[in-house]
Amino acid sequence: MELWIQNAKLVDETGEWFADLLIRDGKIAAVGQGLAAGGEALDAAGLTVMPAFVDLHCHFRDPGYLQKEDIETGCRAAAKGGYTAVNLMANTNPVCSSMETVRYVREKAQKLGLVEVHQCVSVTEGFDGKTVSHLQALDETVKLISEDGKGVMSNHVMAQAMKIAKEKGLTVLSHAEDMEISPYDYRLAENIATIQHVHLAQSLGARLHLCHVSTVEAMQEVIRAKICKAPVTCEVTPHHLWFYDTDYRVNPPIRTKKDRDYLIWAIENGYVDAIATDHAPHTPEDKKNGAPGLVGLETAFGVCYTILVREHGLSLAALSRLLSAGPARILGLKKGRLQPGYDADLVLVDESREWTVRAAEFASKGRNTPFEGVHLQGKVVRTIKGGKTTYQE
Ligand code: NCD
Ligand code: ZN
Ligand code: ZN
Ligand code: ZN
Repeated sequence: MELWIQNAKLVDETGEWFADLLIRDGKIAAVGQGLAAGGEALDAAGLTVMPAFVDLHCHFRDPGYLQKEDIETGCRAAAKGGYTAVNLMANTNPVCSSMETVRYVREKAQKLGLVEVHQCVSVTEGFDGKTVSHLQALDETVKLISEDGKGVMSNHVMAQAMKIAKEKGLTVLSHAEDMEISPYDYRLAENIATIQHVHLAQSLGARLHLCHVSTVEAMQEVIRAKICKAPVTCEVTPHHLWFYDTDYRVNPPIRTKKDRDYLIWAIENGYVDAIATDHAPHTPEDKKNGAPGLVGLETAFGVCYTILVREHGLSLAALSRLLSAGPARILGLKKGRLQPGYDADLVLVDESREWTVRAAEFASKGRNTPFEGVHLQGKVVRTIKGGKTTYQE
C-alpha cells in the first residue's frame, strides 16, 4: 500500500522544506522532489505536514471512570488533535499497578487502531505510598512509571523505585507535589518535591521526567540538573503556557505571568523536552464539585501554535520537537521525523486557519475546558497513522 503526499510544506524538528513524501507499508519510504511513485496521491497544497504528535501525559479513565472518558473516546480525541501516540496515567480504578491492567488497556486500544497507547504503571502499588515490589513484575512493554494525580511523599520510597527503574530501564515520571504542603501553598509544594526528586535521580543516576512544570523555581531546578548533565527531562502543558493569574481548577494551579513567561523563555532556550496535555476529562458534576483538570488533546496544537509560533516567533520546527520528536525520544519510539525509515505517522495542519474552541464539538467525553470561546490559529485537518487516515476534518 502506497500513499504519495504532494505539494506540502514539510516541517519536523530539523527544519522546514518543500518536498513530496512517499509512504509504503506504514513507514516513510522516501522524501524528496519528483519521486516516481504509484499508489494513492494526496494533494496537500496549502497545508503543512508534520510528524504526528506524541502525548506523554493523558488520562483516559479506563478502567473505572468511563463516565469521564474511555479508551475509544480518548483515542478519537487524540486523533482529532493530531496525535498518534499517547502515554496514559495510572490513576484509574483499579490503579494500574499490574501487567493485567496494562494489557487490558493496550489490547482495547490495539483493537481500535487509532492511536498507539502506552500505559504507565504506578510507582507504588495501588498508590499505597510504600510498596514498590510490583515493579519487578513489569515486562518491556512498560517504559514509564508514574504516581500522577498524587505525589510520592517518601524520599526513601522514591529512591527504592528509582533503583528498580534504573535496573529495568524505566523512566520515572514525577507529579511533583508535597501533599502535606499543597493544601496551603501549592507553589512551595511543587518546588520542594521537584528539588527532592531531581536530587534523588541525580544521585542514583535514574532517569526522571518532570510532569507539568509550572513555576520559575521548579524550572530553574530542571535547568540546573540539565547543566549538571543529570538524566532529567521535563514537560510543560499548553494551559500553563496560555493562562496566568486565573483560578480554573487544575493541578498544578495556573500560575502568575512571571511563571508563564519563564516557561516560554525556557522553551525558547531549549530547556523543555516536551509539551504534554495532561488531558484530564471530568463529568460536569465532578468538575462542579472541584475536580482538578481539563481536557487538552483537541486544543493543544492550536494553543501552542498561537502562543508560541504566532505570538513569540518560535519556529514551527522547534514546536515540532516539543510535540513529536522530544516526547517520542522519552518513550523510545521511532517517530517524530519526516525521514525514510520513520513511522508514517503524520499530521496535516492548516497554519492559516482561525477557529473558535467549542467544547460541544469535542470527540472527548470531557467538556471541561478553560479555552471555550477562545480564538486560535492553526488547525489539525488530518491525522495519518502508519499510512492510514485516523482523523479527517
Ligand atoms: C489530573 C487528573 O484529573 O487525573 N488532574 C489535574 O488537575 N491535572 C491529575 C494530575 O495530572 O495531577
Ligand atoms: Zn499530575
Ligand atoms: Zn495528569
Ligand atoms: Zn518570547
